[in-house]
Amino acid sequence: MIENGLYDSFGRLIRDLRISITDRCNFRCLYCLPETEEAADFFRSPTRDNEPKPITRSWKPRSHFLTYEEIARVVNVLAKMGIHKIRLTGGEPLLRKDVPELVRKMCCISGIQDIALTTNGFSFKSQASELLKSGLKRVTFSLDSLDRGNFKRLTGRDGLKQLIEAINYAKELGFSKIKINAVIIRGLNDHEIESLADYARDQNLIIRFIEFMPLDSGRSWQRDHVMTGLEILNRLKERFVLEPLGLEHTASTAKRWRFCDGKGEIGLIMPVSEPFCGQCNRIRITADGKLRTCLFSHNEHDLKTIIRNNTDDNGLALWLREVVMKKEKGHQIGQKQFQQPERTMSAIGG
Ligand code: 5AD
Ligand code: SF4
Repeated sequence: MIENGLYDSFGRLIRDLRISITDRCNFRCLYCLPETEEAADFFRSPTRDNEPKPITRSWKPRSHFLTYEEIARVVNVLAKMGIHKIRLTGGEPLLRKDVPELVRKMCCISGIQDIALTTNGFSFKSQASELLKSGLKRVTFSLDSLDRGNFKRLTGRDGLKQLIEAINYAKELGFSKIKINAVIIRGLNDHEIESLADYARDQNLIIRFIEFMPLDSGRSWQRDHVMTGLEILNRLKERFVLEPLGLEHTASTAKRWRFCDGKGEIGLIMPVSEPFCGQCNRIRITADGKLRTCLFSHNEHDLKTIIRNNTDDNGLALWLREVVMKKEKGHQIGQKQFQQPERTMSAIGG
């Protein structure tokens, strides 16, 4: 029966699907796709006499991507199995053509209650009203710094102005519950924790501080770079009066607080210091059609071949059930046996 819930071997019911629609990005965040070897080695002091060495990247040819029709078909089957929440990610998802068309297709699928998008905001404005009309409910912007120079250092691009304009525009258009993702790295942007929170309070946004995870292409992650959620919270408590809020839902990744004297909300996402794997209800599809059962999986499952082999919906559902049964118990960050997955966040989808 397709209609039965999609459970893994630990009894977790899968409800949330993240779809990366392109692995390309127009930003070069140093914790994801650093532009130069110097940016990848951000924690070492720059060697001024050497020219920064660019890192050359090869992207999957676009012909390897799942088409929107293929994505909609998989979502249709997964919705029957209980998936109700979709997040479109990348790379930078808005680099793919006609994202509103995909959103429209998914809005028609019965059972899908929530469609969200994570973007770096750079090219959001030109597509925003079409996205809203197509049925997109929620947007999350990645914003790690409010200082133009530091923003450029972190993302490799001078794009702070565009991003702030994009957030303002999303508010103006009427997107609700706009979220901001801020990855905090010790020594790089931890001095901006308070100003980022202040911005959220002032602008009535939901800001989520995310612990740095070992998913960077530069493989520079070290435990010492991680500003833990607790450290962030303690800093915030010195500056703001906060009141804890309950979990949004049981599989929620963020612990939440509200400002007692203002608008906006703070969330702490602590995959490193307080893993939430036990409640994980997510699976991911990469742009090139691989199904991943964990951000940190070493195995990917070849969904594209299954759907291009004329498998019918029952066959597809059966395959999905088998794959989800292999979902990992959790990640092992911080343990001796931990191995960083080959693909970065940009290829996996956040
Ligand atoms: N650690 C934590 N968060 C990351 N992101 C990208 N790479 C990392 C990493 N190594 C975040 C981005 C974006 C979301 C999709 O994932 O900032 O907001
Ligand atoms: Fe692009 Fe997002 Fe990676 Fe930054 S974190 S390089 S915006 S995919």
